[in-house]
Amino acid sequence: MFPTHRPRRLRNHPQLRRMVQENAVTTSDLVYPLFAVPGEGIAHEVKSMPGVYQLSVDKIVQEAKEVYELGIPAIILFGIPEDKDNEATGAWHDCGIVQKATTAVKTAVPDLVVIVDTCLCEYTSHGHCGYLETGDLSGRVLNDPTLELLKKTAVAQAKAGADIIAPSGMMDGFVQAIRQGLDAADYTDMPILSYAAKYASAYYGPFRDAAESAPQFGDRRTYQMDPANGTEALKEIELDIAEGADMLMVKPALAYMDIIWRVKQATNLPVAAYNVSGEYSMVKAAALNGWIDEQKVVMETMLGFKRSGADLILTYHAKDIARWIQA
Ligand code: PBG
Ligand code: ZN
Repeated sequence: MFPTHRPRRLRNHPQLRRMVQENAVTTSDLVYPLFAVPGEGIAHEVKSMPGVYQLSVDKIVQEAKEVYELGIPAIILFGIPEDKDNEATGAWHDCGIVQKATTAVKTAVPDLVVIVDTCLCEYTSHGHCGYLETGDLSGRVLNDPTLELLKKTAVAQAKAGADIIAPSGMMDGFVQAIRQGLDAADYTDMPILSYAAKYASAYYGPFRDAAESAPQFGDRRTYQMDPANGTEALKEIELDIAEGADMLMVKPALAYMDIIWRVKQATNLPVAAYNVSGEYSMVKAAALNGWIDEQKVVMETMLGFKRSGADLILTYHAKDIARWIQA
């Protein structure tokens, strides 16, 4: 009898398909990014990211409640400060915007996990992720002076009540520096989610509108990774693990699913995938044109991340996904 193998036998009934399904997306996997701005009553939609807003702290709190009620376990906070300067004061000051937002959210919704992005690009006048001497237009960020500022930033974020610190600047020794800083300040239990393999990507374009963090000159290729490299990601994660990372992130996600897979195979730590702004905007644009089925495309993409080995997914679609799963 031909054919001898009939894989379709397991696809003929919807319940049977459910029974043999290998992966699933749950709300527990999701992290929702939020952008905090100074002021009150502000909800300013980001042009290149329909449905994503810069929010003042009072609005962030409202949003955090909604996120929590949808069953999403965590948010990640980014901040747009009042003033930017060469020392990134807004990043590490106790009155910094992310510190304020963190305290407000933890007071109003204590059970929601608050992850904070630890980087300087939103706070430096030049928009780079680290320290440059005044007038230096090389874009070649000075690594070790940057670490000192980042250490202060992580401690200020911990003091404000953050639950997880997420270093995203791709500086050498970043994880070790903030681990030391946190431990010295008695935050020995603070988990670190390292943006371990972060590529220099054009997919961050819309985020830089949202966070007002585009570099004023040069680019980020002297610190973020070359998209051509895969094996190098394994070096980066090995270092971050040795330096004390508790979780690892791969970013962006869509064009880097091989990296998610390789990282997951190489470690026993939880792995997060960041479904970044440009990935979101592409889907939104096509959906708004009626060219794709947004829900189906988003859920298929999320399944792809899970199949590649992601334990957590940071995504601007998180609220929609939570609603779709509930329905
Ligand atoms: C800051 C940071 C960036 C993103 C997260 N943290 C942008 C960048 O490196 O320019 C991108 C997130 C997104 O595109 O959604 N270091
Ligand atoms: Zn940065």
